[in-house]
Amino acid sequence: MFPRDFAWGAGTAAYQIEGGWQADGKGPSIWDTFCHEKGRVFGEQNGDEACNSYELWEKDLECIQQLGLTHYRLSLSWARLLPDGTTRHVNQKGVQYYNKVLDGLLACGVSPMVTLYHFDLPQALQDQGGWKSAGTATLFDSYARFCFQTFGDRVKLWITINEPYVCAKLGHEDGIHAPGLKEPGAAAAAYLVGHNMLRAHAMAWHSYDSCYRTEQKGAVSLAINSDWLEPLNAGRTEDIAATERQLAFTLGWFAWPVFVTGDYPETMRSAIDARSKKLGCSGSSRLPSFSKDEPAILGTADFFALNYYTSRNVEAGGGCGETLCMKSDRDAGEVLDPSWPVCGVSWLAVVPRGLRELLKYIKDAFNNPAVYITENGFSQVGPLQIEDVQRSEFYQDTILEVAKAIQEDGVNVRGYFAWSLLDNFEWADGFSVRFGLFHVDFTDARLSRTIYQSGREYAKIISRYKCGQSK
Ligand code: NOJ
Repeated sequence: MFPRDFAWGAGTAAYQIEGGWQADGKGPSIWDTFCHEKGRVFGEQNGDEACNSYELWEKDLECIQQLGLTHYRLSLSWARLLPDGTTRHVNQKGVQYYNKVLDGLLACGVSPMVTLYHFDLPQALQDQGGWKSAGTATLFDSYARFCFQTFGDRVKLWITINEPYVCAKLGHEDGIHAPGLKEPGAAAAAYLVGHNMLRAHAMAWHSYDSCYRTEQKGAVSLAINSDWLEPLNAGRTEDIAATERQLAFTLGWFAWPVFVTGDYPETMRSAIDARSKKLGCSGSSRLPSFSKDEPAILGTADFFALNYYTSRNVEAGGGCGETLCMKSDRDAGEVLDPSWPVCGVSWLAVVPRGLRELLKYIKDAFNNPAVYITENGFSQVGPLQIEDVQRSEFYQDTILEVAKAIQEDGVNVRGYFAWSLLDNFEWADGFSVRFGLFHVDFTDARLSRTIYQSGREYAKIISRYKCGQSK
């Protein structure tokens, strides 16, 4: 049912699990700064210690083995490796830590998928303008080269940037993620940040392609998050158009340039420009353009990396009045279908079939790429439930939808990574939201890890399919 070499994985990210925020010469990142400011994160919590994977890595490896994973997705902390963000100074202790992790995985027969950037820009680079500055893309490219050079002999799957949409929108327009900027829409910070992230990704992909690919034989992509979207009223032209716009502003924003045209979706640019005109904001488009003098964006993904969590119905309208912002540019409102159960956090309606629909869409829109589902999961809030029946069912249902996408729709899905291996620091929600296959007891000094029922279920699913494959 699943291909023989299908990747069965789980994921984490450096800031969410490592802790050791000042250990052994690590530099501060924008999440260190953000969490240490009052009022930013639930309960004033932070990732100073988190799951302390910096010291307890062997415990994580035991969890990985207990699940029977073939792959593990982790991210590198840029500021742990290069404390001021540049290759002028390399923190050898950081290099040693990731060497230990990668060697440990490989010794257990687990292949790493490594993300270079998962929300945690070195603070030193934020001080020079962060992702709004064009130069950050060049510095990211140097960092990426350093990582390919140092770890690429052992890493065959690379993700350059995780969820550029979230970094751009939540970090620079909504102000609810680091660096916590709430820039006015006219400044178009989110579009600029997204643009520089795409430039950074493309530069790193070209570096890999020209200097490392022949020898290291790996593959590089960027992880794009997207909900599955359907018109609220399937017979209403306005809702159909709004759904198309919404998709262009989320999935399309990053996938279109990389997979289809080398430029942003036309729907996105025309919506932005029309809005500017309407509000009397003339001049050049708020959406930047790619320069012909820079490495091309088109073709810079060796596979499609998808983070999928939920689905939405979309209706026309819902912009924010006379304000210039992304919401008013796309002029589409999202609605939850009341029949969808919502798990844990309010945004997470559980719609496993949405993943199958989205996979089909990706196959058709982007010329049947190899796809890795780099994140998918179910959250728990409130009282701890180790026997998490609903999450167990969620994994069963979702993985069945993936199987159908492969078998019945012919989508080339190469792997599935559950989010997350461990309960961890869930960004602005702190530790109040638990996504783990293992519970971490943050009240216990040893930060003990306990498998949830859903972890046992995922292990069973993996072993069943692995056995089926070998018959
Ligand atoms: C996507 C992000 O990449 C990850 O860091 C986060 O924990 C999950 N979504 C759940 O919100």
